[in-house]
Amino acid sequence: APNPIIAPSILSADFAQLGADCKRTMDQGADWLHVDIMDGHFVPNITFGAPVVAKVRKHVDKPTAKYGRGTFDCHMMIAEPKKWVKEFKNAGCDLYCFHYEAAFSSAAETPDGKTEEKTNPKELIRYIHDQGILAGIALKPMTGVEVLTELLESPDEKERPDMVLIMTVEPGFGGQKFMASELPKVQELRKRYPELNIEVDGGLGPGTIDQAADAGANVIVAGSAVFGAQDPAGVIALLRETVQR
Ligand code: DX5
Ligand code: ZN
Repeated sequence: APNPIIAPSILSADFAQLGADCKRTMDQGADWLHVDIMDGHFVPNITFGAPVVAKVRKHVDKPTAKYGRGTFDCHMMIAEPKKWVKEFKNAGCDLYCFHYEAAFSSAAETPDGKTEEKTNPKELIRYIHDQGILAGIALKPMTGVEVLTELLESPDEKERPDMVLIMTVEPGFGGQKFMASELPKVQELRKRYPELNIEVDGGLGPGTIDQAADAGANVIVAGSAVFGAQDPAGVIALLRETVQR
């Protein structure tokens, strides 16, 4: 499997001091920052948008390599993912991870008033790659991995996602209970795609990392388990060691 990547979710940070919290998390050993964008439509919660990401970006060094340290992993829990690609790229997003479930009903109009074609996951991945950033695709608990086969096996690398995110909670809130029922999806993907970056998100921490690592996940999101810890650096190190073994 590819290298372990630990991506603390800043949903559990103090939004009034987001820059400082992000910098501290990086200093505590994080590889990426997982940035949860919620629009109140795709999920029943709202976080923040591109202007906040642009300000926070200045507090964390940009990655110097593909998948490198400091990658802003933007988890787009939004109803119109195509509409926001350029805005988030300009704000400093390095990896734009949209939800499969939202990718068919995409954008009629962009923020600058232009009209975009309706899209589908394949076209959206190509569009994200055309902006020069990485593309991820996320699945909610009800969605099976078979919907990804055509994308993952596409002969055209512009259409292949750089990462798959398997949600281990219903998206919308931090601090929920881990759903082990989602791990067979991770297992199946790992069996078929040894080099794929497979991210898990929701309820991960010292108590659940063993199961996720055994299933084959290598990109680990953790919000409350890192930001709520007495020793965040210790938790980040433990998550990494568990994935590595
Ligand atoms: C939930 C978000 C997660 C969330 C995870 O919809 O996608 O990234 O921050 O929080 P924890 O790790 O507390 O479950
Ligand atoms: Zn997330």
